[in-house]
Amino acid sequence: MTKTDTDRSPKANKDHVLIFDTTLRDGEQSPGATMSFEEKLEIAGLLDEMGVDIIEAGFPIASEGDFAAVSAIAKQAKSAVICGLARANFKDIDRCWEAVKHARRPRIHTFIGTSPLHRAIPNLTRDEMAERIHETVTHARNYCDNVQWSPMDATRTEWDYLARTVEIAIKAGATTINIPDTVGYTAPRESADLIRRLIAEVPGADQVIFATHCHNDLGMATANSLAAVEGGARQVECTINGLGERAGNTALEEVVMALKVRHDIMPWSTRIDTTKIMNISRRVATVSGFNVQYNKAIVGKNAFAHESGIHQDGMLKNAETFEIMRPEDVGLSETNIVMGKHSGRAALRSKLNNLGFDLADNQLNDVFVRFKALADRKKEVFDDDLMALMRDSAVEQANDRLQVKFLRVICGTEAPQSADLTMSVDGVDRQVTATGDGPVDAVFNAVKKIFPHEVDLQLYQVHAVTEGTDAQATVSVRVEEDGKIATGEAADTDTVVASAKAYVTALNRLLVRREKSAPNSDVKSVSYRDVG
Ligand code: KIV
Ligand code: ZN
Repeated sequence: MTKTDTDRSPKANKDHVLIFDTTLRDGEQSPGATMSFEEKLEIAGLLDEMGVDIIEAGFPIASEGDFAAVSAIAKQAKSAVICGLARANFKDIDRCWEAVKHARRPRIHTFIGTSPLHRAIPNLTRDEMAERIHETVTHARNYCDNVQWSPMDATRTEWDYLARTVEIAIKAGATTINIPDTVGYTAPRESADLIRRLIAEVPGADQVIFATHCHNDLGMATANSLAAVEGGARQVECTINGLGERAGNTALEEVVMALKVRHDIMPWSTRIDTTKIMNISRRVATVSGFNVQYNKAIVGKNAFAHESGIHQDGMLKNAETFEIMRPEDVGLSETNIVMGKHSGRAALRSKLNNLGFDLADNQLNDVFVRFKALADRKKEVFDDDLMALMRDSAVEQANDRLQVKFLRVICGTEAPQSADLTMSVDGVDRQVTATGDGPVDAVFNAVKKIFPHEVDLQLYQVHAVTEGTDAQATVSVRVEEDGKIATGEAADTDTVVASAKAYVTALNRLLVRREKSAPNSDVKSVSYRDVG
């Protein structure tokens, strides 16, 4: 068994709440949020730097890609514990250990669904499942002295069985017991009571850390997590921007800022450097393709905006009139640099730094060319325009199989509209003309003619990034093929060009996902819901 530099002992840290980030595992599982290997490494680096205690880096048995990302994150981690997920079987646990063992502080997280509905899936009796929990936690402990165990759907598990399984896991050597509210069903008082009762009644509970893992189906994930802390949990599991399946997971930024701002009534601290929140929030939005809603707490575009006259007047006299935290506390800084076609590289670099982008010289050169092209078409380039530009730079990767090279659309009052498109496919340029019912339909038909495919277009959405007739449009597209979902987003002052790029980005991502689950990979792609 490997001895690791594990968490601080539960007894010594009653005032500290460990932050366990699962953006790269539970977050990445939300349909369409797939991140590339490089993107996962970058996000893990940012999480480590901001002071996250434990990073759940992925689910190593799910695919070769997941395994490679977890191993690489384990190797690069400086301070955080690196955790991998494994179902309750030896094969998953072996694979998980192979990936996390490179970390200075590895953790194996193994789980099984304990509620009646989840027990029915592997078709185990209560006793058989209890035996399985004992064997698998023991197996994980033979590798590593930092083992987390979760009874999935704990909040819908019968009390006596939940208490029994938690006791078994503790006896088998689990060091953290996580209590998931898998379907976002619990409510704050119940969440606090459940943890309190487990700590009070399960033998050995005082020797482990209790964690809370909430989903946001009823909009109560943050409240439920904070209530669990009141009940005695000392690890909160969460994701950046609340990314996650369905309504998402508990948002890291909400829990951390609530504990900071209301320390008077919730006297627990975290190690998070809150000034890094905005930057990582933007990066996660960009790489996952999941935009943050404007009025999202802490990281939404409007979270610190004051529009009404009364609010603005109050703010000018004393910011505390309407602000309970300062924008700088979460890493938002206002600069007065107005960007336009006369702005140079230095101004662009400084502006992008303020927006959280730290670019190498060659990257800056590339963005500068795009910025100049945009500034030629727009009088003023706002922060949102730059964010959209950066999102475009991130998605247009040199190794994308499909790339839009040239597009001209002829439209008018008479149908059909036609699109003249040149696109490169695996490095070879192809050109076609196609017609359609409207300019966007014509463009999508042209893409299909060049690269024949059958996908279901689930979402096509346009919104203006800023105001005015020269505003850029951001187009979001979601496509589906055999249950695999991919999203694409692109911005341009021309809506049709943005549509073409967004569609092609989604197709490129779908192609990556197709390759990931190709039958020649050793381990077939699995979901953690396929419990067995
Ligand atoms: O929601 C859940 O139950 C999970 C478990 C794997 C911890 O994500
Ligand atoms: Zn979850």
